[in-house]
Amino acid sequence: MAARNKKILFATSEAHPLMKTGGLGDVSGALPAALKNLRQDVRIIMPAYRAALRRLNKLTVASLVLDEDPHPVRILESTFPNTNIKVWLVDSAAHFDRAGDPYTGPDGHDWPDNAERFAVFARAVAAVALGRAGLGWQPDVVHCNDWQTGLVPALLRDEAPRPATVFTLHNLAYQGIFPAAEFWRLGLPAALWSMDGVEFYGSASYIKGGLACADMLSTVSPTYAREICTPEYGYQLDGLLRARADRLTGILNGADYREWNPAADHHLPARYSASDPSGKAAVKAALQKEMGLPVSADAPLIGLIGRLVEQKGVDLVLGALPTLLRQGAQLALLGSGVKHFEQALSALAAQYPDRFRLHLGYSEALAHRIEAGADMFLMPSRFEPCGLNQIYSLRYGTVPIVRRTGGLADTVVDLEDAGADLATGFVFDDPTPAALLATAQRALTLYREQPQRWQQLVATGMAQDYSWERSAKDYLALYEQALRHVSSRSGK
Ligand code: ADP
Ligand code: GLC
Repeated sequence: MAARNKKILFATSEAHPLMKTGGLGDVSGALPAALKNLRQDVRIIMPAYRAALRRLNKLTVASLVLDEDPHPVRILESTFPNTNIKVWLVDSAAHFDRAGDPYTGPDGHDWPDNAERFAVFARAVAAVALGRAGLGWQPDVVHCNDWQTGLVPALLRDEAPRPATVFTLHNLAYQGIFPAAEFWRLGLPAALWSMDGVEFYGSASYIKGGLACADMLSTVSPTYAREICTPEYGYQLDGLLRARADRLTGILNGADYREWNPAADHHLPARYSASDPSGKAAVKAALQKEMGLPVSADAPLIGLIGRLVEQKGVDLVLGALPTLLRQGAQLALLGSGVKHFEQALSALAAQYPDRFRLHLGYSEALAHRIEAGADMFLMPSRFEPCGLNQIYSLRYGTVPIVRRTGGLADTVVDLEDAGADLATGFVFDDPTPAALLATAQRALTLYREQPQRWQQLVATGMAQDYSWERSAKDYLALYEQALRHVSSRSGK
């Protein structure tokens, strides 16, 4: 018998197109819609960032004053763009109505009041979850995402009755760790200051609140779910994760093919598909022109998009790039991040102006054109919880070159590990420039010398299906498990 439909409160700090700094925004912009398609009653709750307020027609629903906070916090209601899903914005102008990045100020440092901002957000989510916000709706399950929502399962843990809680970890490298004094200043419940709460080596860890207190845990690929249980990837939380391994599962992200589909992508100068790939050549030529590279159909064009941080293996790219460029590859790179990576990449681009062009900054439209116009997509991450760009690349016929870690290992099949009819890309193991170089050279050689096998690789990639429906069904099963844990706690 089909399980009854659930009321799900989806709590997130980002949801594209209202707010996005990376993959969390993509996931939160798509998974709720996939759950809705499975006939679940899902609602999104996120901070009322200035960008989100500007994008939505808002409507005040309830004025909710949080006990320990000097500012009134309102819940605004609207409809999430391109869906019929209700979105609630936690509105506290002092905390969220700011220009720019949700986590860092114009000086590039974290906003100094992040502990308070995401405590305010979490308290509002908890109030809605417990039906105390005057919204006339109470969820069965609260689905929290990343450290910004980590306090929610902690705040709910000792309440009864309460909804089930699920915490999805998108990246263990970002934890929301704050001085103990902040915890006490914010008046968070003293019961949470313990080893099985948010206390973490004498500091307050918001992510630990989620990992320790949620009824069920997930992360965004099966391989990363295993990796984070080891000291190498566990950031000192691997012990906790091993202890809760029976509550932890890996559910691979999907791709939102409403947004990422070369046959209907309005950011592209031409469209193409697996059955008619001819338009890709025009997109490549336009991209070369846009980036200022020589327009050449034969030059192998590599694309790279991402946050320029340690995680993404930028140092490996810097090490391998001069040789690759000298061997005739072109690189189109879009990203922003750590200053010294930006500077080193800029210096290389200045050295090889007719081979390597980079765009420092953020551009949704250019990201689509690089996905589509490049022949290969480089993603040599040191770790990668899931990774979305390699999944988009597959659909765009842009062959991924990735390191075997996390979700990259789960989504790309190397030509040497499978026949040409099953392989989708190139995969290397060692996090070294030499390993990256050797693998990229394998790709260049195949591209140049065996066009038919290359086309087979492209076609197999384009045929992969990572639509959200399957992942959404896995989340439904996870919600069921979480609900069973809550009802067994309350003896029901
Ligand atoms: P992560 O979440 O670690 O940044 P993902 O691969 O999951 O990595 O998702 C990254 C998302 O952010 C993709 O949609 C990617 O296209 C986008 N993105 C990253 N950097 C930029 C940028 N500079 N401009 C536009 N989009 C970007
Ligand atoms: C994180 C991870 C990335 C993942 C994304 C969405 O930002 O770094 O690998 O795809 O979250 O889950």
